[in-house]
Amino acid sequence: MTVALKRIGVLVSGGGSNLQAIIDAVNQQELPANIAVVISNKSGVFALERAQNWRIPTLVIDHRQCSSSREFSLAILQRLQEFQIDLVCLAGFLRILDPLLIQEFRGRILNIHPALLPAFGGKGMYGHHVHEAVIASGAKFSGATVHLVTSETDIGPIVKQGMVTVSDEDTADSLAAKVLQIEHQIYPQAIKLVLEDKLIFDGCRTRLKKQ
Ligand code: GRF
Repeated sequence: MTVALKRIGVLVSGGGSNLQAIIDAVNQQELPANIAVVISNKSGVFALERAQNWRIPTLVIDHRQCSSSREFSLAILQRLQEFQIDLVCLAGFLRILDPLLIQEFRGRILNIHPALLPAFGGKGMYGHHVHEAVIASGAKFSGATVHLVTSETDIGPIVKQGMVTVSDEDTADSLAAKVLQIEHQIYPQAIKLVLEDKLIFDGCRTRLKKQ
């Protein structure tokens, strides 16, 4: 009996190095899934090219063409449903999704954040702002977090984290590069845990199911 592979939809806004890590994991059969569609809110971003290189269907849904954030999210929701998506992965997607979409895909949207949540998350904490805040705080460690998306930004249950050392010489750029390497390792691992239904969700906590 052949088991149908789960269908992932990836939402992007930029370079798409995390998308590439997911593509690589799928190609190396580390992930029991297909990337069914990549949706960007911006045209011309490198993430779209990465997807097209692997013949993955791509769509641009430009938030500026939508009259509201809800209309934008509803347009994405409609496409995710058309493509029969099982799991949505936000990979450098820089828009806030409407609660309606989040509710529709409850427990089936993952995000990656470039810090150890719950520290350095929330409003305004994206891109270089995160790494600048980490360095300014004097923290000796940073890292990346994959979490389930809920309607509160950067708050959902943590699926996986990876850590890096903040050295005396680090700048926001060098720290970002170190964190990105960790992101590429943990995002596919976290997706696998969710797709294979290996986790128990308990409030903010996730625990591995006992075999
Ligand atoms: C990553 O640092 C990710 O944590 C954040 O946005 C960045 C996206 O990078 N959400 P890329 O587009 O995957 O290269």
